[in-house]
Amino acid sequence: MNILLIVSGGIAAYKSIDLCSSLVKQGNDVKVILTKNAENFVTQLPFQTLTKNRVYTSTFEEIDENEIQHIDLTKWADKIIVAPATANLISKFANGIADDLASSLMLAVRDVSRVYIVPAMNTFMYKNPIIQENMNKLIKLGFNFIEPDSGLLACGDVGEGKFPSIEKIKNALFQEIEKDLKDKKVLVTAGPTKEFIDPFRCLTNPSTGKMGIAIANECAKRGAEVILVSSINDDSISNKVKKVKIISTNDMFEAVKNNFKDCDFIIKAAAVSDYTPVQVFDKKVKKQDGNLSIEFKRTQDILKYVGDNKSDNQKVIGFAAETNNLIGYAKEKIIKKNLDYIVANDISKKDIGFGSEDNEVYIIDKHDNIKKIDKNSKNNIAKAIIDVISK
Ligand SMILES: Cc1cc2nc3c(=O)[nH]c(=O)nc-3n(C[C@H](O)[C@H](O)[C@H](O)COP(=O)(O)O)c2cc1C
Repeated sequence: MNILLIVSGGIAAYKSIDLCSSLVKQGNDVKVILTKNAENFVTQLPFQTLTKNRVYTSTFEEIDENEIQHIDLTKWADKIIVAPATANLISKFANGIADDLASSLMLAVRDVSRVYIVPAMNTFMYKNPIIQENMNKLIKLGFNFIEPDSGLLACGDVGEGKFPSIEKIKNALFQEIEKDLKDKKVLVTAGPTKEFIDPFRCLTNPSTGKMGIAIANECAKRGAEVILVSSINDDSISNKVKKVKIISTNDMFEAVKNNFKDCDFIIKAAAVSDYTPVQVFDKKVKKQDGNLSIEFKRTQDILKYVGDNKSDNQKVIGFAAETNNLIGYAKEKIIKKNLDYIVANDISKKDIGFGSEDNEVYIIDKHDNIKKIDKNSKNNIAKAIIDVISK
């Protein structure tokens, strides 16, 4: 594996020499970046000797004319580990500052789930709300953090902030994602439906499908066979997910009906329309004087259909997006639609839910147990939901 090790200017920089040695001994090809301040603690020579590669220290020292270091190194690396990561470097990553090689390079990383950050610093620096906020920002974006140990620190203080053992770092770096959904089949619905009035106008809603897509991707990552029924066709959908494209609520109903029978989990995260026009005009409706009335009829209740027709070993998970009495309505929905779980979120809050990158949800089971998942990225919310329902 190609590993890029970024060492910044903390007292634990000397420990990164052992880490580097251990990664090389394991058979990895390791390249090292030292920040300017790291060179106050360690020199290039041990890293160069251990890795048999030159050590990178400056954005502008382009030794190989075919290489633009801060771009090409990210393409070369399978994994990037920042160890130790100073408070300063973490804050630069979190705020898009790109004033040296390490921080410029981090902005060019396309898939941050390949990045592992090992903070090491004085415990008051580590607990500082600014640093905590910066770390949380990076976690939400998908960066991995390997938590520091607690103990006696170099400065004499005792607490969190200690560089963890090499064993702990390597375990986190190479851990296999648990395939706990292997041999399971999951059907997920996501995104809005469109109920056409005429060839150019439709009734729809602002759902982006991100929550459902995050759930489908998480299930696929954990080894499940996944069918995603959705109107959204987005680059972010894992290529391990089988996509069934739909437009209307009725299309979604047919797709779910045809596919749910052999699924272990049916997760209905789509924002479906409860109504569809009674009459669909085959030509564009022309503007006229006065108001226009359109009559709507109820669409098929897909969630209820699945709840009523599921077998005992199937779990059905619904979503409740409400603006008021969130828990009350969610509990009612579990009973009415014979669900195993409901995931409730408050769509009156502007910073979560519809169209936003984040969500905050309550996972409620049919025995009224409630678990709150605090505001977090939709990927982390998806992980928390799957952790609960797959138990
Ligand atoms: C003796 C000494 C030890 C330091 N140890 C740490 C440390 O463990 N963690 C940290 O975040 N900063 C530490 N610092 C402060 C950083 O060196 C400083 O914030 C620097 O700007 C970091 O630069 P860099 O992030 O570009 O490597 C230390 C400074 C000194 C003088």
